[in-house]
Amino acid sequence: MVRRSIVAGVGACLPERIVTNAELARRIDTSDEWIRERSGIHQRHIAGDGEMTSDLATRAAEKALAAAGMGADDVGIIVLATSTPDETFPATATVVQSKLGCSNGSMGFDVQAVCSGFVYALATADNFLKAGQVDTALVLGAETFSRILDWEDRTTCVLFGDGAGAVLLKAGDGKGSSDDRGVLSTHLHSDGRLHDLLYVDGGPSSTGEVGLLRMEGREVFKHAVTKMSEVTVEALEANGLDADEIDWFVPHQANRRIIDGTARKLGITGERVVVTIDQHANTSAASIPLALSVAVDDERIQQGNLVLLEAMGGGLTWGSGIIRW
Ligand code: UT7
Repeated sequence: MVRRSIVAGVGACLPERIVTNAELARRIDTSDEWIRERSGIHQRHIAGDGEMTSDLATRAAEKALAAAGMGADDVGIIVLATSTPDETFPATATVVQSKLGCSNGSMGFDVQAVCSGFVYALATADNFLKAGQVDTALVLGAETFSRILDWEDRTTCVLFGDGAGAVLLKAGDGKGSSDDRGVLSTHLHSDGRLHDLLYVDGGPSSTGEVGLLRMEGREVFKHAVTKMSEVTVEALEANGLDADEIDWFVPHQANRRIIDGTARKLGITGERVVVTIDQHANTSAASIPLALSVAVDDERIQQGNLVLLEAMGGGLTWGSGIIRW
């Protein structure tokens, strides 16, 4: 018998305001055609004035709790992945804890791994559950990247959007095989030597200001397909699984060409790939739980399905995970 982290509910939240490529093209030197062709993005959601990362995360968390039929005080740990916290401190997870009305003294903290954040948060929560320290975990990816974009830089500002997604995990028993329901494994990596490819040019200890996102897009692209293919193969091999056995591939949504390239390398055909980049753009740590939520809501992902996740982001960080739903 082994302890497993089983998905009990998912939820998502997108800000109301939608910004189309055409709207951006009226403000900066770009075009709908360029953005669609190079990234696959058609539109993005942008947070309203005063709408914070914690607000989006709280709404996503409420939906995941409702889907699982649980209340705020059933949560043992909140792990929130974000690079756009409400404040430098405290952790946005504790803000969400308060907004949800948790009063059971459970723990909450943030995880910072940029676009790989959700996979890092999932791995962290899974390990707390497997260690027996908690029985229920709320794993969140929530971002307001619109606040750290240089809206004069057309090479980056057209690519990102705001949103949040939540996955509620509950401890259960398994046999230790890939037939078990729950998180089967997670695989995390980072290489700090690649800092300059994707970073924010500010922070409390360097400039004293929040800073703006800077990216060498073409270089990041090259690393993305290679690293994400490698880390997904690592996940498949760790579980003795073949790519054919994967029901749903849910990659980080950074660029349609990266998603297609990675899926092609794995031999996973288009209809088994969950794609939301057209509607959401790149929502960093929120992109995977948002995509999971879409595919659960439209009933593509069913209980018992094998779901493969992967992501890469600033750091560079990258990682993967396999969940039997
Ligand atoms: O989530 C974290 C990880 N992030 C990523 O994975 C992002 C990875 N990178 C990418 O997705 C792609 O590299 C981009 C979408 C950022 C760029 O696509 P690309 O095919 O690599 O284009 P490029 O950077 O090579 O630029 C091609 C041309 C340039 O013009 P020249 O030098 O060829 O004359 C750019 O100046 O496109 C120009 N360009 C634009 N044109 C219109 C760059 N941005 C824009 C724009 N609108 N917004």
